[in-house]
Amino acid sequence: MAQRFILNEVSYFGAGCRKELPEVLNRMGLKKALVCSDKGLIKVGTTAKVTEVLDDVNFPYEIYSEIKPNPTVTNVKQGVEAFKASGADCIIAIGGGSSMDTAKGIGIVANNPEFSDIVSLEGCAPTKKKSVPIIALPTTAGTGAEVTINYVIIDEERQAKMVCVDPNDIPAVAIVDPELMYSLPKGLTAATGMDALTHAIEGYITKGAWVMSDMYELQAIKMIAENLPIAVDEPTNPVGREGMALAQYIAAQAFSNVGLGLVHGMAHPMGSLHDIPHGVANALLLPTIMEFNMPKCIEKFGIIAKTMGVNTDGMTPEEAAKAAVDAVKALSIRVGIPQTLTELGIKEEDIPALAAQAITDVCTPGNPRDVTEAEIVELYKKVL
Ligand SMILES: NC(=O)c1ccc[n+]([C@@H]2O[C@H](COP(=O)([O-])OP(=O)(O)OC[C@H]3O[C@@H](n4cnc5c(N)ncnc54)[C@H](O)[C@@H]3O)[C@@H](O)[C@H]2O)c1
Ligand SMILES: [Fe+2]
Repeated sequence: MAQRFILNEVSYFGAGCRKELPEVLNRMGLKKALVCSDKGLIKVGTTAKVTEVLDDVNFPYEIYSEIKPNPTVTNVKQGVEAFKASGADCIIAIGGGSSMDTAKGIGIVANNPEFSDIVSLEGCAPTKKKSVPIIALPTTAGTGAEVTINYVIIDEERQAKMVCVDPNDIPAVAIVDPELMYSLPKGLTAATGMDALTHAIEGYITKGAWVMSDMYELQAIKMIAENLPIAVDEPTNPVGREGMALAQYIAAQAFSNVGLGLVHGMAHPMGSLHDIPHGVANALLLPTIMEFNMPKCIEKFGIIAKTMGVNTDGMTPEEAAKAAVDAVKALSIRVGIPQTLTELGIKEEDIPALAAQAITDVCTPGNPRDVTEAEIVELYKKVL
């Protein structure tokens, strides 16, 4: 079987690297941008850290900010209209997965108008043309959407998250500046960081994993275990922020190509039906789904435990695998993630609807252990 691996062409890393933006725009011959960034980021002044760089060189732009966390079809449709009205020739996405994913939807539809209903983009959409050039500047260390071929949009009519997989949406340039993450509050730092860990672990054990993706995911797991507690405890310590900025990017390079698993499959309905932040949903589910997957992943879980710094010498393979689950759970508690659905306001009677969506989610078939809807119900109950 042929293996495919898609990466973006150009990325910049390091504190202050957003200052490369004018040179990037100049090199690409771009003349005007639609800046996609959500209202929360504009309020805390993070968006301005980038638009100031544009102002300094008088680069014209307009801002589109009708983007809610867990963005919707309506957010994308309005964004397409804003793009057309602006006369822009590129999109600068400044934000977390929500702003970057909305930008991807806008960029794809602008150049492939036959998909303007947005819902027809779900799954592997057969678009013919590359998105409008997107320059993505992540402000969370989580989704890695600046380097993935995916975007996730809620279809409000079905109240379901659509995962859209399309190599044409990959941003032309990623600018990963950890200084844009300093303003991220503790809770969001923890949740988005645990999303990145979930990407790395699910990407490492997914059915499509192979030597190339394993190489990225193990490095990401190591860096997240080391740096997430620092980023949460000391928001302006460059070590933690830089480590997490890089780790989430590395994890995303691989999961974008090999897929994810049941944690994401079960987290997506929590976002669409209950508006739970994506990272919180993943973090809460991860240890329990790892336990479920354990029979299929003994060896790889042992490697995860070691990679997270556990001394597995003298342990049986099963003990070492269990140690990985314990290490993930300990990290999740350490960074303050809620541990039950009840804490998030989800009730037992909500579980059947969650399970019905989870079983059809695009990420679920990538899980290393096959799962039934009845088993998914039991797994949600375990974390109730
Ligand atoms: N494209 C992909 O490959 C991919 C992968 C995983 C998840 N996702 C999707 O991404 C979305 C989640 O993205 P996210 O977790 O990055 O969060 P987000 O973009 O939804 O942002 C969450 C909140 O954090 C705030 N915020 C972001 N950065 C901040 C900063 N630096 N300072 C202060 N506040 C800040 C935002 O204003 C927002 O209120 C979900 O819809 C999820 O399904 C996409
Ligand atoms: Fe995710």
